[in-house]
Amino acid sequence: MSNLSETSWNALREQARHATLMSYAPYSHVSVGAAGYTSDGRYVEGANVENASYGLTLCAECSLVSDLMRQGGGRLVAVSIVAGDGQSIAPCGRCRQLLFEHGGAELLVDAGENAPARALGELLPDAFGPDDLDSRRSP
Ligand code: THU
Repeated sequence: MSNLSETSWNALREQARHATLMSYAPYSHVSVGAAGYTSDGRYVEGANVENASYGLTLCAECSLVSDLMRQGGGRLVAVSIVAGDGQSIAPCGRCRQLLFEHGGAELLVDAGENAPARALGELLPDAFGPDDLDSRRSP
């Protein structure tokens, strides 16, 4: 799919900002919200959920993927991730891999109002994905 219109990116970013309100971030105090658009025209969203055992924290993108599956799955074509200050953030390394599974290299990742969206393939080049499993299983 080609890029979204500016209006659509603004709407997706706004949804991500709204999702930050669902964040549970008592430790870092960094609220993160994520919103995604699917190839069949649905919206999904998520927020980060921290834990007293810090390393168990779920990023907003993880929560977004859970929402995608809760809705029956599908392919992500665009995502926007923002912090509590309302500004876009790039997904962390682990979340690039999580998003790759459900959107592939063509998934467009918002870079904020003043920069063009980037394809996930640019943020996670040469990604290891589901196709690699079939070709690399031991005989
Ligand atoms: N965080 C996300 O939700 N997504 C990212 O891509 C980067 C980091 C969250 C995790 C943690 O709750 C807080 O931001 C600070 O690291």
